[in-house]
Amino acid sequence: MNFSFGFIFLCVGVALASEETYRAGVVTTHGDVNSYVPLIHEAGKLNVDILVLPSPQAPLSSMERTCEMDNYDVLVETISSAAKQAGLYVVAHLIEKTRCQNKNELVRSNLVFDREGNVVSVYRKPLTTVANCTIAPTNIGTFSTDFGVQFGLLMEEDLVLRKAEELDNFVVLGAWSSEVPFLSESQFASSWAFSNNVNLVSSSGIFAGSSGSEARTHSNVQISDLDKLGNKNQQIVPPVVNSLELKSSPAEDLSQYIIRPLDVAASAQGYKETVCHDGFCCEFYVKMAFDGPKEEVNYGLAAFNGVRHFDHTHNIGSQTCAVFACAGLYKRSCSLGSQNSTNVKFQKISITANFTETIQYPIILTTGSKIEPKAFKMAANSKQVTLEVTNADNLLTFGIFGRDFSKDSKNFVLNDSGSIYDTINEEMTELFDYLWIRLRVVLIIASIYVLEML
Ligand SMILES: *[C@@H]1O[C@H](CO)[C@@H](O)[C@H](O)[C@H]1NC(C)=O
Ligand SMILES: *[C@@H]1O[C@H](CO)[C@@H](O)[C@H](O)[C@H]1NC(C)=O
Ligand SMILES: *[C@@H]1O[C@H](CO)[C@@H](O)[C@H](O)[C@H]1NC(C)=O
Ligand SMILES: *[C@@H]1O[C@H](CO)[C@@H](O)[C@H](O)[C@H]1NC(C)=O
Repeated sequence: MNFSFGFIFLCVGVALASEETYRAGVVTTHGDVNSYVPLIHEAGKLNVDILVLPSPQAPLSSMERTCEMDNYDVLVETISSAAKQAGLYVVAHLIEKTRCQNKNELVRSNLVFDREGNVVSVYRKPLTTVANCTIAPTNIGTFSTDFGVQFGLLMEEDLVLRKAEELDNFVVLGAWSSEVPFLSESQFASSWAFSNNVNLVSSSGIFAGSSGSEARTHSNVQISDLDKLGNKNQQIVPPVVNSLELKSSPAEDLSQYIIRPLDVAASAQGYKETVCHDGFCCEFYVKMAFDGPKEEVNYGLAAFNGVRHFDHTHNIGSQTCAVFACAGLYKRSCSLGSQNSTNVKFQKISITANFTETIQYPIILTTGSKIEPKAFKMAANSKQVTLEVTNADNLLTFGIFGRDFSKDSKNFVLNDSGSIYDTINEEMTELFDYLWIRLRVVLIIASIYVLEML
């Protein structure tokens, strides 16, 4: 009797659980579409409800040459029949080449296949922003599923470019040109899910809002069970990214940032510093300790308020505060450190600023160290945002990336070669460099003079 009650209870429990969650999967290996077919079948066997395929990573120029785009229809057919056989939703990002006015035009599409293999949602945009062809871009979409979840369907760059829609679940595919420290794809997806506290299933991983990723990996498919109504887990897991995974990403041009070197001596006691750029001020409190002998690690305290480029094709408004590890100072700017480990321990970093808008993301890169949930805090009091960490090792970047949509420029130009920074600023930087060097020479002379007096 007891046993059967227990059994009934267990069954009800399982049934409830399966109604409250769905299973999301992501294919983690890159290959051609045919190589994904066995993985779609494997995901079907693992009872995955919705599977995201990897997005092509190739840069624009080489995409023009790959022939995969010539057989778009065949690829759609292949995925459709695999989705049908495996009986799950599949989302893919495909690139289609069309001939138009004697030119090739590339169009990117996010396609959603249902369990019957039907295409139930399409979100498409031209790859370049100048496109004349008959294929009109579609608006970002939403789609509903037979497991009762409505998803927002986005391309990766929409995470940066748009305000989040009022939904609990998102599927995100596509690729942008990553840059460390703030706008690298894999890291930004986790920060976005964190700040918006929504479920995000993407080629970069599966994130349950502010509780982070608890995905399990089965050979080449990563799976995770997510709450249908959005993240219900109270646990706050900071979106920390291992910088070694981002090693191949180019570093952002930080020459427009105001960067002040961290005062190592003062930081041993703990000290406050305010760094401002164009009326936007970041208040820092830093207390650090060395584990063993002091080593050559420089940190910079940085502030930025203005327009920056993004993904070669967009100019976006941003307000940013961060502590960076600097491998060196070049033109008053910090070239980002790529240390494997440091013996610096931050007993505390606290960053506070008054932002113009309410969309801010924590950006945290370490060389593999985790940050305990209780050692991390991000709090907003209207537009005043504070980010704090205690007892953190191996931090390379710790900061807040804020968006200021009002400064986004509508007319973006595709320009892969040039920098958006104008020459006036370049000259200003040179001038500062000159002053900086002069100042250093004066300081050295002064200190020699002092020594001689002793
Ligand atoms: C678009 O069309 C205009 C006028 O027909 C032409 O001048 C321009 O080169 C075309 N742009 C592209 C990218 O094909
Ligand atoms: C970091 O580690 C890799 C391999 O573990 C090594 O090849 C490289 O030299 C290290 N870099 C630094 C700066 O220590
Ligand atoms: C933010 O605004 C508050 C209230 O106006 C002010 O007291 C504080 O100093 C400001 N903080 C920064 C970092 O500008
Ligand atoms: C790209 O930028 C460079 C440098 O600013 C400029 O010389 C070039 O004309 C630009 N190209 C296009 C297509 O706008």
